[in-house]
Amino acid sequence: MTRITCVTENTAIPDLGLQSEHGLALWIATDHGSVCFDTGQTEAVLSHNLGVLGLKVEDAKALAFSHAHYDHTGGLETILSGNEGIALYAHSDIFRPRFSYRQGEYKSIGMATTQAELARHVQLRLSDKPTEIFPGLWTTGEITGRPEPEGRSAHHFIRIDGNWHPDPYRDDLSLVLETGGGLVLVCGCCHAGLLNTLFHVEKTFSGPIIAVLGGTHLTNASKPYLEHVIKVLGTRFEGVQYYLNHCSGQKAVKALQDAFPGQVENCPAGTVLNFDSDQG
Ligand SMILES: [Fe+2]
Ligand SMILES: [Fe+2]
Repeated sequence: MTRITCVTENTAIPDLGLQSEHGLALWIATDHGSVCFDTGQTEAVLSHNLGVLGLKVEDAKALAFSHAHYDHTGGLETILSGNEGIALYAHSDIFRPRFSYRQGEYKSIGMATTQAELARHVQLRLSDKPTEIFPGLWTTGEITGRPEPEGRSAHHFIRIDGNWHPDPYRDDLSLVLETGGGLVLVCGCCHAGLLNTLFHVEKTFSGPIIAVLGGTHLTNASKPYLEHVIKVLGTRFEGVQYYLNHCSGQKAVKALQDAFPGQVENCPAGTVLNFDSDQG
């Protein structure tokens, strides 16, 4: 069995003593070990919530990052302390500096550390190809072929040869868990776009997609585009169960709940989901 616990999120289940912040961290406990997928925005919230949830930092056998942004990588030190030499899975472009442009200023919003510095403390497993973390748990690798709009923000930029360009989000990846019933897609921020990510998983892995969990970046989706997403999900990905949070956007969650009654839930910090192991 694999147990996925939402540790850090924009919201938290009330009365559990959990803290919330804009960010995402998920703890994935498989039969082969536990992986921390993203670390939220701050060490303080990640350590506090792991403690409340009874999860021990030193039990993490691997760390994986969905992408570089501070709200997914800011709590990194919490996982590193007591885990010297842990394996870190991420896309090879994750250390590229990334910026947000607001009110006339470019602010750094990418990784707070360099590749050389981090390589002294972790085993870097950087790849743009799908990579197996534990048996049955994979990174998607880079989301290739993006026929649909990405989950983008007009504020996000990278710098090439002194010029500013929209962030292409090459570093954005998700995880895929192979279960007895099919594939569970675990998203961080889904900047590559939810539909693009689903198409990529469909062509890269075998088995039906049975659940989608995490941030799906539909927060800026227009009404017509949301209607298109719902149409594609309803025809091509029938019966999927959704556990949405972070950058999914409440309007999108509500629209999906209306379209797929009983299949769409929020996933605040404190949510625990169990999935059967792969029988094959
Ligand atoms: Fe992001
Ligand atoms: Fe995010």
